[in-house]
Amino acid sequence: MTTTITFSLATARELVYLIAIAGFILALKGLGSPKFARRGNQLGAAAATLAIAMTFTLPTLRHSGKNLVLALVAMALGTLIAVPVARMVKMTAMPQLVAIFNGVGGGAAALISVVELLHLHALGAKPATYVTAEVLLGVLIGSVSFSGSAIAFIKLQELITGRPITYPGQQVINGVVGVAIGALIVVALLTGNIVFVYVLLLLALVLGVIFVLPIGGADVPVLISLLNSFTGLAVAASGFVLDNNLLIVAGTLVGASGIILTRLMSSAMGRSLPNILFSAFGAVITATGGEEGDASRPVRSGTAEDVGVLLAYARKVVIIPGYGLAVAQAQHTARELADALTAKGVEVFYAIHPVAGRMPGHMNVLLAEANVPYDELKEMDEANPEMSTADVALVVGANDTVNPAAQSTPGSPIYGMPIIHADEAEHIIFLKRSMRPGFAGIDNELLYDPKTTMLFGDAKDTLGKLVAAVADA
Ligand code: TAP
Repeated sequence: MTTTITFSLATARELVYLIAIAGFILALKGLGSPKFARRGNQLGAAAATLAIAMTFTLPTLRHSGKNLVLALVAMALGTLIAVPVARMVKMTAMPQLVAIFNGVGGGAAALISVVELLHLHALGAKPATYVTAEVLLGVLIGSVSFSGSAIAFIKLQELITGRPITYPGQQVINGVVGVAIGALIVVALLTGNIVFVYVLLLLALVLGVIFVLPIGGADVPVLISLLNSFTGLAVAASGFVLDNNLLIVAGTLVGASGIILTRLMSSAMGRSLPNILFSAFGAVITATGGEEGDASRPVRSGTAEDVGVLLAYARKVVIIPGYGLAVAQAQHTARELADALTAKGVEVFYAIHPVAGRMPGHMNVLLAEANVPYDELKEMDEANPEMSTADVALVVGANDTVNPAAQSTPGSPIYGMPIIHADEAEHIIFLKRSMRPGFAGIDNELLYDPKTTMLFGDAKDTLGKLVAAVADA
């Protein structure tokens, strides 16, 4: 007996979507380690391309020339804008870029939900309550994500102050908006009237703005990760509205991974998520740190020649990169120095703090770009037990992430954040341009430690001088 299996186009599409979904999951797995991150990214892009291509087999696109043209024009416009922007953006401005991309994703999900509801109304039947609920969810979360991301972008781009913005009656206003949104959802569910959905959209936009304004600049990257998670959930909700399994799974993956990342970031900063979102922390400069540190205290500054000799005759050197490495684009020169030291028989590795820089994995991305071997990168927990046996901790443009105040000064804005224990090394060398504080805006005792030598200047220039000094030593 022979059995004939026939595939409809719809079945083939679901099958391809399933393959794309498997691609997304494997891509996320790859992104979990520096070694496989690049391949994971490529796999994710390939899976998305496959899914988009298959979407063109949907009847709404196949049978309507107008829809097809609209979709193609929208894709062409998006590509024309996104490709040059993504290519030209500086690594240090990446959080802003993520905020924009994330915001438009949330906005699109909200609009898709509204349009689908309009479509159902045009068909004449009152949509089932669960469909209206899906639409409301998509509209609410997507709109909050859109306007919240826009404010996050404006803050990070320093178009407005990065400090928490508070105003009288803030809690009352937040409460009123929250209650109004709750009431609107109930009324919209009961009546199915589309006008309430429009009002909800407007109020959700307001909620996104008032939710983000009180969050300080230093906490905005965590917030963006949370908003990213919201966008994923909004996309999943619009997947339910459109009855599209791919959107449901992809949106849920973004939602889940975004919330995991948010948790990892907040615990790496030693803070709880509610504290980050609702405590108005993150002012750029706080009471304990001046613009130029404490000028009355002695600081030892050295020369590249002396430090070059110290490094060349060390047994173990730990390079601790931070935001300044990204600003100076010094990753290639850091690698040159590490190579020169390794050639002289010195053991070298990089100690990576989870929130060094301004975005998750910032240091990993930079060092991977300079082809630093993966086995030379050690996460904070792996690096810290080795710090007491290091001859030199070479701190390249890092500050908060090695600041002992995080462990020793209750009340400090960074108190509770785990740090890399540069203070335990025999010698500490700081490569930075001045005594200015890091992102949290607080002084760093380690700069004044008798074991510390400051090498003032741009990190790339100073590393270049150290490479020459090590060669001469
Ligand atoms: P920071 O504490 O921000 O310190 C960076 C240092 O780099 C500054 O003190 C600056 O000093 C120096 N610098 C800037 N440009 C330089 C250049 N061209 N050459 C040499 N040095 C330069 O950096 P970090 O240790 O990486 O800490 C990251 C901070 O960001 C933490 O407070 C963290 O909580 C916060 N944060 C990070 C994230 C993520 S996900 N990474 C998310 C939220 C918040 P000079 O001006 O004197 O040169």
